[in-house]
Amino acid sequence: MAIHFNKRTHRNDELRAQHAGQSAILVGWVNSYRDHGGMVFIDLRDRGGITQVKFNPETDPKAHALARSLRNEDCVAVEGRVGLRGENVNPKLPTGEIEVEARALDVLSKSDATPFEIDDFTKANEDLRLQYRFLDLRRPSMQRVLRLRHDISKAVRDYFDQEGFLEIETPFLTKSTPEGARDYLVPSRLQPGHFYALPQSPQLFKQLFMVAGCDRYAQIVRCFRDEDLRADRQPEFTQIDLEMSFVDMDDVMTAVEGCVAAMFRAGRNIEVERPFPRVRFAEAVDRFGIDRPDTRFGLELTDVTEIVRGTEFKVFSGAIEAGGVAKCLCVKAAEGADKLTRKITDGLSEELKGIGAGGLPVTKVVEGQDGTELATGVAKFVQPVRDALCERVGAEPGDVMFFAAGPYNDVCKFLHHARTRLIEILQLKPSKPWELLWVVDFPMFEWDEQEQRYYSTHHPFTSPRDEDVALLDTDPAKVRAKAYDLVLNGTEMAGGSIRIHRRDIQQKVFKLLGISDEEAKEKFEFLMEALRFGPPPHGGIAFGLDRWVMLLADKESLRDVIAYPKTQRAVCPLTGAPGPVATGQLEELGIDLRPEVWAKLEQRPSGPDQHVHRKHDE
Ligand code: AMO
Repeated sequence: MAIHFNKRTHRNDELRAQHAGQSAILVGWVNSYRDHGGMVFIDLRDRGGITQVKFNPETDPKAHALARSLRNEDCVAVEGRVGLRGENVNPKLPTGEIEVEARALDVLSKSDATPFEIDDFTKANEDLRLQYRFLDLRRPSMQRVLRLRHDISKAVRDYFDQEGFLEIETPFLTKSTPEGARDYLVPSRLQPGHFYALPQSPQLFKQLFMVAGCDRYAQIVRCFRDEDLRADRQPEFTQIDLEMSFVDMDDVMTAVEGCVAAMFRAGRNIEVERPFPRVRFAEAVDRFGIDRPDTRFGLELTDVTEIVRGTEFKVFSGAIEAGGVAKCLCVKAAEGADKLTRKITDGLSEELKGIGAGGLPVTKVVEGQDGTELATGVAKFVQPVRDALCERVGAEPGDVMFFAAGPYNDVCKFLHHARTRLIEILQLKPSKPWELLWVVDFPMFEWDEQEQRYYSTHHPFTSPRDEDVALLDTDPAKVRAKAYDLVLNGTEMAGGSIRIHRRDIQQKVFKLLGISDEEAKEKFEFLMEALRFGPPPHGGIAFGLDRWVMLLADKESLRDVIAYPKTQRAVCPLTGAPGPVATGQLEELGIDLRPEVWAKLEQRPSGPDQHVHRKHDE
């Protein structure tokens, strides 16, 4: 008689010694299989764990015979009695004290040989794992990530619910939203030539919720950005998005800290210390070269402009004369400076050239006959200012000094890159496992030298600090924003701001950003309209949920914490998306492809999407 698989009594991580003697119905997949001549053993796996099942020819010869035909990943139901394993206890398994002595076995479906082993030691390459993601997700470590993600999302929802936030959905088929990335466009069939844009964030909708009197909104929401992908960037990703009325910066930051505490509790059972420390944007960039510093490591940057200004070394003096700065990054002997061989420093220099630097000048501090001396690299150029330099930087014999000179932003960028790589190369240990840090006092605008125009540092709806509003007319570069970013271990985890709720200031900011009245009308008219009807002061923030899960799960890529992620080329190996579509579909949308695009499509090897394509055409 068939086993009632829908009447399972336990999951595969639940049975313990105390259940010995009881009957059990278990279901799952054959994780492994051992035929010991007389007995057959299978490890039965479900999303929770593994239970050993024993088939004894004497208990039920039919089930035993069937068990001998089982193969890995067959889907089965088993009925039997829980027995103690006696001497054969497996301390590595939570269910290791028991086994189920099978009385009946039902093979619910057979499995072909899988393209890779379903275990956490698989060496299969990522593309193959993503192509067979439904098998990849069977692996225990992936099941743990899915569970963790669920727990964190639930903690977030519970927290915001308790704090009086409403979860309200916002549209996906919408207009371009200004987060600075490229849009994903969706053509409209009913209005040929018109396109929806998938939202880069619900920014404007949530501001309108505040105008609508919703007071507190929080949503776990998908966002879409067509940008160059990295380990911590996906084209579609999930934000924890929130907005609050009648608040200032501290109120939003306090609400966020509560949410972060809830996430850490749910994800790692850790109590984080609150409030989180704050660092000013200018200080972060000065000391670490970046506005999302990982301050758990030393290797801080020191300004040495005045010291090297007068040297003969044109790389420094020339750059400074042209209005630039010089900075130094000193690796202490205790940090392993002696490991920095010529090969390593030359390699770093080459890397920096790859991001636009001239190189990475370096010198060593050594113990000479007359005290401290400099050796190798640019030693002879900076020799005349040796003492002042070492004193300023705090360098001692055994240390290594790296330099960069040029425009301030470039110098910071290059030395941040060098710092990050040195931390990796020297395998420096962080001073603590987690460091949460607010970065505040961002400038409102960034000046683009090439394009000769301002860009918003955050986005165009960010409010200037009250005391800086007057500077909008006189010195926009000096205006500071009511913006804040939350950084965890050097990764930007959340960013937000108090918004402009006055129409006249919003208009002024648009103007400064070179957004013409027509463009503002075309893109943001609904916002400008809303600002005419008593908008409350408001502000908010958005967290990258995937990034939180990635760090809390100790993973290095967002692809490890998203069920169905895209590859570096924004492709989904599972479904084959994006794929070509039938010409009929294109016609309906009023779209034609350029001849060179057609030509490329014809050259594609015919795959399943091509097949569908042709069929449609018939
Ligand atoms: P921002 O653009 O800073 O702000 O985004 C907020 C957070 O979203 C995460 N994030 C990403 N995560 C994965 N892949 C990506 N491609 C990606 N891009 C961003 C980051 C980031 O800190 N509307 C504003 C928020 C506001 O002002 O309230 C916004 O979207 O963790």
